[in-house]
Amino acid sequence: MKNCDLIIKNAQQLVTCASNKKAKKGKEMLDVGIIKNGAVAISDGSIIGLGTTDELLKEFDSKNQIDANGKSVTPSFVECHTHIVYAGNRIDEFELKIKGADYLEILESGGGIISTVEKTRKASLDELVEQSRNRLDKMLELGVSTCEVKTGYGLDTETELKMLEAIALLDKSHRIDLIPTFLPAHAIPPEWKRKEDEFTDLICSEMLPKAMNWFENSHFYKQEKSHIFIDVFCEKSAFNLEQSQKVIKTGKKLGFKIKAHVDEFTNLGCAKFAIENNATSIDHLDATSIDEIKLLAESDTVGIVTPTVNFNFGSTEFADARKMVDMGCALAVSTDYNPGSAPCPSLQNAMAISCRYQKLLPAEALNAVTINSAYAIGQEKYLGSIEIGKKADLLILKTNDYREICYEFGGNFVEKVVKNGEVIIG
Ligand code: NIG
Ligand code: FE
Repeated sequence: MKNCDLIIKNAQQLVTCASNKKAKKGKEMLDVGIIKNGAVAISDGSIIGLGTTDELLKEFDSKNQIDANGKSVTPSFVECHTHIVYAGNRIDEFELKIKGADYLEILESGGGIISTVEKTRKASLDELVEQSRNRLDKMLELGVSTCEVKTGYGLDTETELKMLEAIALLDKSHRIDLIPTFLPAHAIPPEWKRKEDEFTDLICSEMLPKAMNWFENSHFYKQEKSHIFIDVFCEKSAFNLEQSQKVIKTGKKLGFKIKAHVDEFTNLGCAKFAIENNATSIDHLDATSIDEIKLLAESDTVGIVTPTVNFNFGSTEFADARKMVDMGCALAVSTDYNPGSAPCPSLQNAMAISCRYQKLLPAEALNAVTINSAYAIGQEKYLGSIEIGKKADLLILKTNDYREICYEFGGNFVEKVVKNGEVIIG
């Protein structure tokens, strides 16, 4: 009999989301790897055994045992695309949009992302950290234990570095683990309007090297998650294809891994370029063409869809996630939590929306917020599934059928969050 730190037993469904050393593509997304009446053995924060409760209890013993009592156990959710470090909110803009204003028109007239930039520039590092901590608290209650976070509300060197520092401080002081992404190419700030090429040059010659230098001196670099992403918003009124390509190429040369906001409103052709440059993910994909979906399916890049954005715009048009999965893509789902296009901390809501409007089945939606989103942030070695050797980041849900997370919407199915083998919520 082997002793371990913790056993979780009697899960009616132990939903492993285990994959075969690759992101789940196409039909594989239908398989969530359920072990009926399952149990998990945990030591030193990692999973060291799993199987049916009967089998596992023959092999492992522990002073600490949690009886899941017929509930479902899943991997904790991995949030692969957010902009949660910012100051203030955009409630006024929300009202303008209700009255008919358009997101890109608001941005063009100096509102939208730019209004958050103004508030974020003014905020002290402490204020920024505390406001963002509040958002992470909500996400943790809702089952997220690792979260990618982008800069992009600074748009000058000093504030972009302040945002990176806020991400590092939050990673050290919050139970959610953060993965940093540098996004100075998020919008054109007022001082660079009509000088977009010059602003792009500044990003490439000054901001990217300074961010990489910051990263190499940060605590992240010494950890297992020793990478940082570069991202760009390739869109009308933001960065055109040529500018986006320059940012991606420069970032790649400097050692960043690649992400890109592509085709959120307009297809400017960046999906193909990002895939050809081995992007870890391409995100949004609302206006992506069939040829590009085919390329995505043939690649190792994960497609991230953000159905909360379309829902927030009151739209009934969504990225064609169904087609992407049917054509063989690896798909992840994210909230895109941000103050403008998606003020939403709940991946459970994102799953519910993706089932209704993008026609994902609950199994596909669950894989999309666990194993595939771990791949979408380069954390697949450690996270996203219940497999021996992975971190013991799990959820005990208030349901005996994981599909209920998608079926009943608007609430919270998380009963307990286990992080590194320790119960931190519930
Ligand atoms: O992913 N598209 C660009 N960036 C965010 C929105 C940020 C904002 O509106 O503040 C997005 O939708
Ligand atoms: Fe985004």
